[in-house]
Amino acid sequence: MLCLVPVLLRPVMSGALSRGPEPMAEADRIRWDARHREQAGREHGPSPFAVSLDGLLPHRGRALDVAGGTGRHALWLARRGLDVTLADLSGVALEIAAGRADREGLPLRTVTIDLEAGPAPEGPWDLIVCVDFLWRPLLAGLPTALHPGGLLLVAHPTRSNLRRHERPGPRHLLDDGELPGLIRGLEVLHDEEGWTPEGRHEARLVARRPAPEAGR
Ligand SMILES: C[S@@+](CC[C@H](N)C(=O)[O-])C[C@H]1O[C@@H](n2cnc3c(N)ncnc32)[C@H](O)[C@@H]1O
Repeated sequence: MLCLVPVLLRPVMSGALSRGPEPMAEADRIRWDARHREQAGREHGPSPFAVSLDGLLPHRGRALDVAGGTGRHALWLARRGLDVTLADLSGVALEIAAGRADREGLPLRTVTIDLEAGPAPEGPWDLIVCVDFLWRPLLAGLPTALHPGGLLLVAHPTRSNLRRHERPGPRHLLDDGELPGLIRGLEVLHDEEGWTPEGRHEARLVARRPAPEAGR
């Protein structure tokens, strides 16, 4: 069923795309739309972890921010010079992100998509960012959406986070030590897990798709 909500039809700076007829998690979309609407105006910057990777992340090429919400990472990457696509279930989030991009004169593509219903927007991507969103089948498919040499950045709280925070609930948490095993076929550049200075227990991983060997 095609989910026709006005925001899907709203043009944004570089054109809003919608993935077509897969069913959307309507209840989730409504809930996330409401949450994003409620938090509109509270602008958050990129996670300190992402910022700490400044020297490693590319300044050029195509980047995908999956379930990127109102674009705190997408906008930061666009400011760095990347050609960024922000994919999220919530049209409200994408509209807020597009408005922020417009105000800064940044190009930003937005895609309204249910990432639990199918794969990420087609690559190849030079960088994929997945922060605070957990859908294991999606993670499994991200490595092959990368360009050879492309990077995947994932950060997500683990079960130990429950020792200090009620939310996210258990269903939305990684098991402790689980993340590296979910990412196959990439060269791991950075893999850590523990309490962050902001007080969250997170797993964080950066990995690169190997370039094909010469002559193969
Ligand atoms: C906790 S927020 C994280 C947003 C962003 N990654 C960040 O770090 O600020 C989770 C995001 O996932 C989006 N989301 C939830 N379910 C989704 C789905 N099935 N497909 C795509 N996006 C989804 C929500 O709209 C929300 O923007």
